[in-house]
Amino acid sequence: MTYNHQELIAAAARAKEKAYAPYSRFKVGAALCTAGGKIYIGCNIENASYSLTICAERVALFQAIAAGERDFVALAVVGGDQAACFPCGACRQVLAEFAPELEVITGQPGSPLYRRLLRELLPDTFTLK
Ligand code: THU
Repeated sequence: MTYNHQELIAAAARAKEKAYAPYSRFKVGAALCTAGGKIYIGCNIENASYSLTICAERVALFQAIAAGERDFVALAVVGGDQAACFPCGACRQVLAEFAPELEVITGQPGSPLYRRLLRELLPDTFTLK
């Protein structure tokens, strides 16, 4: 499955606008591309009980899983106006459960993108296997 990196980043940037982040004011958007080419989006959703906040990456993944998807090829993340925003450690672990071979890209629309494999971001991963 080939996908367009800038299109996936654009989807993440649009998702970022939906973020609920009144505490940190740091809005994040994520877009997850399935093996079949479908895109699932997520944004961060914060809470007055701070630790209940959920990251954009997990929202995108959980939406896709709940829709019956299991095969993923790439995840794009856009964080605020930062040049790069890679997933936090908790999201790396949750993503690795379903997509150890995932490609992760981050950046801003129209700008150079940063690319890593999930297994580079989380080596020696603890998984079912
Ligand atoms: N956040 C994400 O959504 N994804 C990341 O990769 C890093 C952090 C959110 C959580 C919180 O709402 C805000 O960014 C600041 O940490």
